[in-house]
Amino acid sequence: MQPQSASTSRYARVIEVSKRVRWEIERDVIRGRRFDFGKTFLPSGLSLVNELPFLTNADKRLLSQVQGRTYANIFGLVERFIGAKMLEVSRDHWLGDQTALEALVRFTDEELKHQELFRRIETMIGADMPPGYVATPDPNAVASAVLGKCTWAVLALTLDIELFTQAHYRASMEPDGNLSELWKDVFLFHWKEESQHAILDEIELVKEDAKLTPAERDTAVDDLIDLVGAVDGILQAQAASDARYFTAIASARLDEAQQARVHAGVLKAYRWQYIVSGVMEPRFQKVLFSLVDEAQGARIQNALAPLTYAVPDQPEVPLPLAA
Ligand SMILES: [Fe+2]
Ligand SMILES: [Fe+2]
Repeated sequence: MQPQSASTSRYARVIEVSKRVRWEIERDVIRGRRFDFGKTFLPSGLSLVNELPFLTNADKRLLSQVQGRTYANIFGLVERFIGAKMLEVSRDHWLGDQTALEALVRFTDEELKHQELFRRIETMIGADMPPGYVATPDPNAVASAVLGKCTWAVLALTLDIELFTQAHYRASMEPDGNLSELWKDVFLFHWKEESQHAILDEIELVKEDAKLTPAERDTAVDDLIDLVGAVDGILQAQAASDARYFTAIASARLDEAQQARVHAGVLKAYRWQYIVSGVMEPRFQKVLFSLVDEAQGARIQNALAPLTYAVPDQPEVPLPLAA
């Protein structure tokens, strides 16, 4: 256990940065702009559209826009349970460390703002794309299922998500000069606030871990494995829906084999984006595997094994860790 003052100063630093980078949706991010559909949304390092060489450049761009739409929607979705969990863990600080409480309240407030931003984005993109797109998961249904798992598992999943958010921006979006400026800015501003969230996730996860008996931690590992399975279920449904939607609106007619490749390619991209890229983050590995024993670590690795194929065929940027 850290002395109170050391952890208080970490919370205080988070508050300081959170105040410094604070932004507003209209004033700072949207600024009266619209999305440029002549440009890419989700960069190819994440969408993996270049692994579908039979698509024309225009259709690759369209697929990056369909995936970019889902990317924003999935963030809005996970932020529902992340915000609720942070409110819940803030209870430990209600009558104690008021600096910690303020940091977690700001975190929750930022996630509420991010959800509003992503709803806004969905409305704007939806207005400029052909009808037929479906966001398959319901945020409240997903959040109640996730929040039914233990806090340790939810915080571990949250840390994973908030670390990959940053990795995606730094590795794939920031260096890409061909993205829609507004789309890129959405994730630039999002990233600025997420950096503080990942620090808080780690503090709260380690604190929660210290409360667990070995038996409880063993169950918590099962919960985390269940959560990864649930995320994958969401990705499978959304990938099927997005592949259908893309096939219907693409400029070229795709034969059955090509449609199947699009479906497999989108599912692979989503698994890369939301599961594998996060798991490969060195910081996530360091924190998670310092909390579990060897057998628990092996259980997590085994559960992930069927998904680890989902890495780019030809990394356009150096991967954070050797696969
Ligand atoms: Fe967020
Ligand atoms: Fe966050």
